[in-house]
Amino acid sequence: MDAVLMEGGRGGAAEGAAPVVRLAGPADVPGICALIGRGNRRRAEPGEIRRCVLRAPCVVGCSGGEVVGFIYGEPFAPDVLEWRNMVVAPELRRSGLGTRIVEKGEMEARRHGYRALVGSNSWLHAGGSPGRSAGARAFWHRMGWREVLRTGAGDTVVIVKDLDQRRDAGDRRTSGRPRAT
Ligand SMILES: CC(C)(COP(=O)(O)OP(=O)(O)OC[C@H]1O[C@@H](n2cnc3c(N)ncnc32)[C@H](O)[C@@H]1OP(=O)(O)O)[C@@H](O)C(=O)NCCC(=O)NCCS
Repeated sequence: MDAVLMEGGRGGAAEGAAPVVRLAGPADVPGICALIGRGNRRRAEPGEIRRCVLRAPCVVGCSGGEVVGFIYGEPFAPDVLEWRNMVVAPELRRSGLGTRIVEKGEMEARRHGYRALVGSNSWLHAGGSPGRSAGARAFWHRMGWREVLRTGAGDTVVIVKDLDQRRDAGDRRTSGRPRAT
């Protein structure tokens, strides 16, 4: 997933009940594009997003009928899913919505037979900067993702999440042979 940069924001969705977090469908594509359009420096690609929601378990957070968060991706290998993009509406950040979306996405990925997730964050995208990437990287670290590759001075990081981690923890308990990390 790319470094998605959002600034500003608007009121409204921040108030009221907690957003509903659920699987995304093709009907959510305009809402996802709208959220990209109101702050994301990337151009929304409706065709790509539609392909993703049809091919992989993607997740949206909705409030008052509006998409206020999303994550979408597509298969990277038959058992590995690549997250391509994630955004939480600026006015709802640091309220736990990103955590809920990623947890739902990971649960659904497991349920669909994926065993690992891969993504990236880069400040080389238009409008990117180390400062803007720092928050997203802290978020992925907090969600248990592991950095496996860093280019240049950290321009781009490739991150992964092993969805078999819980099974590995069980293996450690039973075999006493910790897995190298
Ligand atoms: C990254 C993003 C999706 C996080 O969503 P969020 O809803 O704000 O995340 P959460 O509230 O669930 O945060 C969970 C934890 O992650 C960490 N975290 C999240 N944002 C952070 C930030 N800007 N700086 C430092 N740590 C951060 C914190 O530990 C946070 O827990 P805390 O608030 O109790 O300290 C959101 O900031 C966003 O949309 N950013 C712009 C788009 C983007 O960069 N997407 C990712 C592309 S790779």
